[in-house]
Amino acid sequence: MVHIWPIGGGKGGSGKSFLASSLGRLLAKSGKKTLLIDLDLGAANLHTMVNVPYPEKCFSDFVSKKISALEDTVLGTPFPNLFLISGAHDNLDIANLPYDKKIKTLKAISKLKYEYIVLDLGAGTSFNTLDFFLASRNGIFITTPEPTSIENVYRLMRAIYLRRIRHYFSAADFKALEKKVKQHLGADSFNKPEHIVSVIKKEYPEKYELIKKDFHSFQFKLILNQLRKQDNPALGEQICKIIKKHLGFSVDFAGNIAYDEHVHDAICQRLSFLDRYPHTRAANDLRELNRKMNNSFGEQLLFNYL
Ligand SMILES: Nc1ncnc2c1ncn2[C@@H]1O[C@H](COP(=O)(O)OP(=O)(O)OP(=O)(O)O)[C@@H](O)[C@H]1O
Ligand SMILES: [Mg+2]
Repeated sequence: MVHIWPIGGGKGGSGKSFLASSLGRLLAKSGKKTLLIDLDLGAANLHTMVNVPYPEKCFSDFVSKKISALEDTVLGTPFPNLFLISGAHDNLDIANLPYDKKIKTLKAISKLKYEYIVLDLGAGTSFNTLDFFLASRNGIFITTPEPTSIENVYRLMRAIYLRRIRHYFSAADFKALEKKVKQHLGADSFNKPEHIVSVIKKEYPEKYELIKKDFHSFQFKLILNQLRKQDNPALGEQICKIIKKHLGFSVDFAGNIAYDEHVHDAICQRLSFLDRYPHTRAANDLRELNRKMNNSFGEQLLFNYL
């Protein structure tokens, strides 16, 4: 039984890699065999967060077929039970992974023998990020309280929603849908999920029911990182309400992680923040989040669109 936790955030610097490495550390410490996969293709740095300074093999060796089994790209880390597939040597070409290679990767990930697999994804809304995020129903979104970061995570959620809807249509049907949406609602309406869904509901009622059911089965979570004292602690709940209202699907607010300058110190010293500064507010927040997610997330891989 494997739990896959993809971590996505629209904006660079929101804390995806910090969260991935921290959750990995906590899961491994509690005895779970855990694998971190750096899928921030073209900008990978997760190895540094778990103190693997010179990864001798990495994900691109699998993509380029230099290493035929994904399992053989796995590296140990200084932490018992914690393993890594690094992206350290990946070049920019790999940032645009072709669809067939992505599918091959997703299938290979699903066969890996770990209890937990945490995916650290790139910023932005590239198809790589969207498809890897949709590899599990247990996706985790992370943002800081800054409006720019919130805007970007919202954009990511919207892109994920549209990407998922796309899977219910053949290329020709999707073109026809686009035409209908634009006809009914105007030329710039096709990037608004609420418009698209309103047309699907009318024109493709069976697909509408399937998509609705599909999205009910997701258990997306939102984490607010780098919360300072002056920030509103209820902001995360408010964002989730807005998502429900405008995008129509549920994202549960999982909790805040306090801003703490020791995070910077720990990363600069290549130490695990949780081990070096275990008695800080941010470390408590991380432990609490890990506990909560372990209780609320189910197993469930999602490869039914492959
Ligand atoms: N809770 C926190 N308190 C203080 N600083 C933090 C916190 N979380 C992250 N940071 C800081 O933010 C920086 C960016 O974090 P991180 O590298 O995890 O972001 P990212 O989302 O993975 O970015 P990228 O998309 O560029 O990979 C870290 O180097 C760290 O200094
Ligand atoms: Mg990162």
